[in-house]
Amino acid sequence: MSRIAHEGFRSKVMSAEEAASFVKDGMSVGFSGFTGAGYPKAVPVAIAHQAKEAHAKGEPFKIGVWTGASTAPELDGALAEADAVEWRMPYQSDPQMRAKINDGSAYYSDVHLSHGATYVAQGFFGPLHVAVIEVTAITSDGELVPSSSVGLNRTYLAKAEKIVLEVNSWQSEDLLGMHDVYYDIAVLPPHRKPIPLTKPSDRIGQTTLKVDLDKVVAVVETDASDRNTPFKALDEDSKAIAGHLLDFFDHEVKQGRLPENLLPMQSGVGNIANAVLAGLLESKYENLTSFTEVIQDGMIDLLDSGKVTVASGTAFSLSPDAAHRVNDNAKKYRDLIILRPQDVSNHPELIRRQGVIACNGMIEADIYGNVNSTHVMGSRMQNGIGGSGDFTRNGYLSGFVTPSTAKGGAISCIVPMVNHIDHTEHDTDYLITEQGLADLRGLAPRQRAEVIIENCAHPDYKEQLREYVKLAEKMANGRHTPHDLSSAFSWHVHFLANGTMKMN
Ligand code: COA
Repeated sequence: MSRIAHEGFRSKVMSAEEAASFVKDGMSVGFSGFTGAGYPKAVPVAIAHQAKEAHAKGEPFKIGVWTGASTAPELDGALAEADAVEWRMPYQSDPQMRAKINDGSAYYSDVHLSHGATYVAQGFFGPLHVAVIEVTAITSDGELVPSSSVGLNRTYLAKAEKIVLEVNSWQSEDLLGMHDVYYDIAVLPPHRKPIPLTKPSDRIGQTTLKVDLDKVVAVVETDASDRNTPFKALDEDSKAIAGHLLDFFDHEVKQGRLPENLLPMQSGVGNIANAVLAGLLESKYENLTSFTEVIQDGMIDLLDSGKVTVASGTAFSLSPDAAHRVNDNAKKYRDLIILRPQDVSNHPELIRRQGVIACNGMIEADIYGNVNSTHVMGSRMQNGIGGSGDFTRNGYLSGFVTPSTAKGGAISCIVPMVNHIDHTEHDTDYLITEQGLADLRGLAPRQRAEVIIENCAHPDYKEQLREYVKLAEKMANGRHTPHDLSSAFSWHVHFLANGTMKMN
């Protein structure tokens, strides 16, 4: 049975190569796709091929690549490898795309994920020439059944001059009913109204995406699975990190500052955030809910166990095994999971109203609680800020988790001064490493330094951090947030020169 139930769309079916020909050098293209889910599988590869052919003839071919968030080798990987990317936004995590950003051949604008829709709608990034959107099916009344992510699709479909649809028959038809596409949010200031959502299970929109058939220039049929990298196996460090977070929850419940079933949880991208969810599975907590951005393997296990009763997000971020498991059982999961546009899943108003507990991975934190989620040694981009700022700034309890060291102990994830700031000390309520938890609420900077060093730093770096604090107190021009400006980055400089942050 064709997934295209509307003749107007059926008449536009063509090959990926033909569809790619609508994309020309210099254009901006809005692709679906969010953390390895729901990205187009065929047209980006064909665009990359077109770019290579142009380059072989000595002709220019580079485009603006706009997505929901990170995609996969068939999109970010293929376009980066073909040197076809002029400008990229927002979050990415593909090794080839990262390499192009870091060698300076692609520009990257790392915007907060909740902001993308408004920025695109208002034209902050210029015109959007083409949208390439994966869908599960096209209904008989000409609406689109979204696939495994919603991301910025509502906005791209509304704003693009031309639309290419990929109808992927790998995505389960039972996804129909999982999505909640809220359209009133597309109203721009000064006409916006409060968003009528008070709990993760609320449905406030429609299950399908609207599209203007007249703008659709091509429909391409595909049959390929979402492809994401598997999570690293749980190790002792990640189990310890989860344990510290659970102790913290126990304490907050005892103090009457969290209810018995906590508050809606947000859990970030990456291995450590996924491991924290695995810790919750072993915990005593029941009837949990989640208001988050991505639904990872750990969240699926929590839903299966019944510990989490509903998870609201914008996309899946699953290992290949879990992606198949969810797709095969979409009928069950569509009652437990709600996928929304990313300007709703990450909306500050909704995060603040519900009192979301935010927990995200990080690259490094400094002794005062400033957090770097994105940069390695000052200049190199790792992935991007993603939604971590949306949740951290507006959460009820916001914090970060990381092993205390990276690269086999050569890097301390607690440093005198972070090499780039994504989240300031004003937003960091807690920090957790395998060593312990630093509860920073109500502490002044010098008090924070003591708690972070004693509770979170690795023993190999504690003395070195204490020495920095002594030096900073001696050299600083003020006693509020003491720094020795001449050596604040000396740990990073030492690593770049010697391959380790250990000074002795
Ligand atoms: N300095 C240099 N490299 C570091 C580092 C540090 N202080 N800390 C970690 N890394 C490296 C690791 O060695 C690893 O490198 P590898 O891929 O070469 O092995 C990589 O960063 C990822 O680290 P890992 O410990 O596996 O953590 P993770 O998978 O949990 O990811 C982030 C951590 C910060 C990269 C990830 O959480 C992220 O991209 N965050 C920003 C976006 C975000 O928070 N989104 C939330 C959505 S709501």
